[in-house]
Amino acid sequence: MGEKRIIEVEGLVKHYGEVTALDGVSFSVEEGEIFGLLGPNGAGKTTLMEILCGLRRFNEGKATILGFDLVKDSRKVRGMIGFCPQETLLYDLLSVLENLAFSASLYSLNRKKFKERVDFSSKVLGVGEFLNRKVQQLSGGMKRRANLAASIIHDPPIVILDEPTVGFDPNIKREFWELIKTLKNHGKTVLLSTHDMYEADELCNRVAIMDKGKIVALDKPHVLKKTIGGEASIHIKVKDTQTKKALKPLDKYSHILRDNEIQIFVTNPWEIMPEVSNKLISQGILTEKIEIVEPTLEDVFIKLTGRKLTEE
Ligand SMILES: Nc1ncnc2c1ncn2[C@@H]1O[C@H](COP(=O)(O)OP(=O)(O)O)[C@@H](O)[C@H]1O
Ligand SMILES: [Mg+2]
Repeated sequence: MGEKRIIEVEGLVKHYGEVTALDGVSFSVEEGEIFGLLGPNGAGKTTLMEILCGLRRFNEGKATILGFDLVKDSRKVRGMIGFCPQETLLYDLLSVLENLAFSASLYSLNRKKFKERVDFSSKVLGVGEFLNRKVQQLSGGMKRRANLAASIIHDPPIVILDEPTVGFDPNIKREFWELIKTLKNHGKTVLLSTHDMYEADELCNRVAIMDKGKIVALDKPHVLKKTIGGEASIHIKVKDTQTKKALKPLDKYSHILRDNEIQIFVTNPWEIMPEVSNKLISQGILTEKIEIVEPTLEDVFIKLTGRKLTEE
């Protein structure tokens, strides 16, 4: 990974009327990394990406792409970014190839370059098998590939992906993750948003955890997971909703409550486990499950905000 900062954002503020979607966001992305914005719905991820792509104005702050100012050099900046929004922007009645040609025309690609890019899309992004099929006949996974191909037809150094795998089943998700890693291997810098902690963990070199328009933590996934204050946590699921009662004997440990579940962050789970279960038994508390789990990025989010990443 290069040391070069390819995206620099400082103090971005964005209001939609009364709503503050971004409340002073600062971070930078280094050349060649996969950088993740992890946060729940409404955190401000899409707003931030749309601003970086020049699709939205902002109220305060500054951002530069490869040293060029987002506002002053907006034309230049636009060609440096390929934005793949959550909703596909393809024409249903056109074939994939026709869609690619349309996108290419927006960037005035010449014939030779277009041919090269169709080749790349076919071989690397895997759209070769359905180049001549109409978009309306494609599966969800194929559509998302075609959408990505169209978004980066102009071969930009930066690829911005808004929740690229939302709604995918696990297999297709994995395939898409491989594809994103391939982009990185082709030298692209990737900025992606997600509310999937596994996706952020698996793909990203660094992750900014966002909540309510703010970045609440930013680091490499393994470093973030260490910040929860323990090597692991003990998850306890109690029968009924006796949670409050169950929590009482465990007061001395840090814990977080979700319905009838307790989570205790500890550095020595194997040593504490017997003590915990003895205490529960002595209180006559019936448990459904007690297990030791490795920390996840969601644990980090819970610890920082007291809420879960996704609603159940
Ligand atoms: N066009 C808009 N008009 C008004 N409010 C908006 C608009 N777009 C987003 N918001 C609000 O801004 C906040 C951030 O939204 P968004 O950027 O879509 O977050 P995310 O992508 O993380 O779900 C939310 O409170 C959302 O309701
Ligand atoms: Mg969004």
